[in-house]
Amino acid sequence: MSQTKPVYASFRSIGAYVPEKILSNADLEKMVDTTDEWIVKRTGIKERRIAAEDEHTSDMGTKAAELAIRRSEIAKEEIDLVICATVTPDYFNMPSTACIISNKLGISNVQAFDISAACSGFVYLLSVAKAFIESGMKKNVLVIGAEKFSSIVDYTDRSTCILFGDGAGAAIISATDKKEEGFIDLHASADGAYADFLVTPAPGAIYPVSQKVIDEGLNFVQMKGNETFKLAVKTLTKDVKEILQKNNINSEDIPHFIPHQANYRIIKAVGDALKMREDQVVLTVGKYGNTSAASIPMALNDIYESGRLQTGELMLLDTFGGGLTWASALLPFAGKAINK
Ligand code: ACO
Repeated sequence: MSQTKPVYASFRSIGAYVPEKILSNADLEKMVDTTDEWIVKRTGIKERRIAAEDEHTSDMGTKAAELAIRRSEIAKEEIDLVICATVTPDYFNMPSTACIISNKLGISNVQAFDISAACSGFVYLLSVAKAFIESGMKKNVLVIGAEKFSSIVDYTDRSTCILFGDGAGAAIISATDKKEEGFIDLHASADGAYADFLVTPAPGAIYPVSQKVIDEGLNFVQMKGNETFKLAVKTLTKDVKEILQKNNINSEDIPHFIPHQANYRIIKAVGDALKMREDQVVLTVGKYGNTSAASIPMALNDIYESGRLQTGELMLLDTFGGGLTWASALLPFAGKAINK
C-alpha cells in the first residue's frame, strides 16, 4: 500500500503596497474637533495613508501581490488559488475583489474568492490556505489583505476618522514537505454576540441604497470604541497565551510578535501582559493607522524590507476585528530574507 507523504503549508513571501497620500493628525485637526496630542496619546497614530480617488482596493491588492509573487520566486502560472480579505471590496456584491485582482495579475482559470472577517481577515485566510494545501487540493496560494477603508469612513466623525487608513499586503503560501518550514499552529474564532461593536450598516440586504442610507450616513463604519478596546485587550492576550502554552513556547523566544495595528495602547497592554520586550513587538500603527485586513501583512512587510525578518525566524500573529472575529498564528518565515 502506498503512503502519501505529509504536506505542510509554508509562508514563502510577503509584499505590501502603501498609497502615496499622507493624512496627518495636523490635517485632521482642520477637519474635525480633535488635536494631534489627543490622537497620539489615545491611539499612537501620527499619520495614515489614503488611496487616490481612482485607486481601488483591487489596485492596491494587485501591487502588493506582484511584489509577493516576485519575492516568492515562483511563476504566477504556478498559483492555483487567489483569496482576498477585505471589508472594502471594489463592489459590495459581485464580482469579488479576488477575481478582479486575478485578472489584473494575468492569472486565469484558478479558484478566486473573498472573505469578510474585518481586521482578522488576513490570518483567517492563512487558515484557509493551510487547509487547502495540507489537504493536497492546492500548492501555491496567493493571500491578499487589502482595504480602501477611507471609502467607508465618515470624515466628520472624530471618533472613527482618526483611526483608519488604506493599504494592502499579500503573501504566497506554498506546499512543502519540510516540517520545519510549515505553520506550527493557527487558531481562528468568532462571536457574533458582539456584532454591533463594529458595523457598516449599508449597502446590504437590510439597507439597500436609499435616501435614508444617505441621510443617516448608514454607509459609514460605526464603532463602539471603548467596548471594542477592552474586549480586544482581553481576547488578544488570551489567544496568545493559549497558542504559546499549547506549543510549549515561551513569549521571550518569539523574535517577531505582530499584533493587529489598531491602537498603540492595545498593543502595549497586550505586550506587557505577555511580558514581551519592546524589540519583539512590531509597530506600524503610528505611520499607517488601522488598515484592517491589510494591517498584519503591511507590518510583516515592514520588518521584511528593513532586514529584521530572517529565514526560519518565528512569527506570532495576533488579530481582532469586526464580527467579532479573532485569530492567532505561530509560524516560521520560510522565504528568502533581505540581507542588509
Ligand atoms: N479627538 C478628541 N476627543 C475625542 C476624539 C478625538 N478624535 N474621539 C473621541 N473623543 C472624546 C469623546 O467624545 C469622549 O469625550 P467625553 O468624555 O466628553 O464624552 C472622550 O474623548 C473619550 O472617548 P472614548 O471613546 O471613551 O475614548 P477612548 O479612550 O476609548 O479612545 C478609541 C477612543 C481611540 C476609539 C479607542 O476606544 C479604541 O482604539 N478602540 C478600539 C478600536 C479597535 O481596536 N478597533 C479594532 C477593530 S477595527 C476593525 O475590525 C475594522
